[in-house]
Amino acid sequence: MRLFLDTADVGQIREGVKLGVISGVTTNPSLLYQAGRADYKAAIMEICSIVNGPVSAEVLSQEAQSMVDEAREISSWSPHVVIKIPCTASGLEAISTLSKENIKTNMTLCFSPNQALLGALAGATYVSPFVGRLDDVGQDGMGLVAEIVDLLDNYTLPTQVIAASIRHPMHCVVAAKLGAHIATIPYNVLIQMIKHPLTTVGIARFQEDWQRLSGQGRGDKR
Ligand code: G3P
Repeated sequence: MRLFLDTADVGQIREGVKLGVISGVTTNPSLLYQAGRADYKAAIMEICSIVNGPVSAEVLSQEAQSMVDEAREISSWSPHVVIKIPCTASGLEAISTLSKENIKTNMTLCFSPNQALLGALAGATYVSPFVGRLDDVGQDGMGLVAEIVDLLDNYTLPTQVIAASIRHPMHCVVAAKLGAHIATIPYNVLIQMIKHPLTTVGIARFQEDWQRLSGQGRGDKR
């Protein structure tokens, strides 16, 4: 499973990319708002230059032809851009048109297996089931990921599943076990994934013991 960062904060993206474990980024209007990036084009181009991999940028139009026009414009900003389009009838029509033009798409706001199937049939490069938001309303977000992975697998449809709306490290573990192609994660989840209290304690103990050893005059025997 690959990991994308779900943020428009270029500081966080730089830090994540430095670790060598992040291969893409997903954004949406809310994330751009949180990052204070009203300069949409500049923000997306900057993110593309940092991550050097797929960067999802969302269209805001609601009607199919306007979505397509917007997508053509956004995709001209960088070869890394993937157009994020919500699962609506207009969205499916736009995805279908764009896939015939080889413009990559990420069908977003996916909350059911049927929506994912339709996205895949329309030619979406990625579909993004929103795990946390389903959990929030008492439904099984990861159950949806499992269903989508299974149904795409049955027909070897090339669409990749992005487990989105990830809230904590266990979401990543389960998404990976289920065979999601990608999990897009907030920066804080990436940091949580790195840390383990026994790693911290273990480092401190090795440091202390090395100091003790040095105190015995044996440090030069390393
Ligand atoms: O990638 C989708 C994601 O940004 C939604 O996450 O936490 O707003 O449900 P959240």
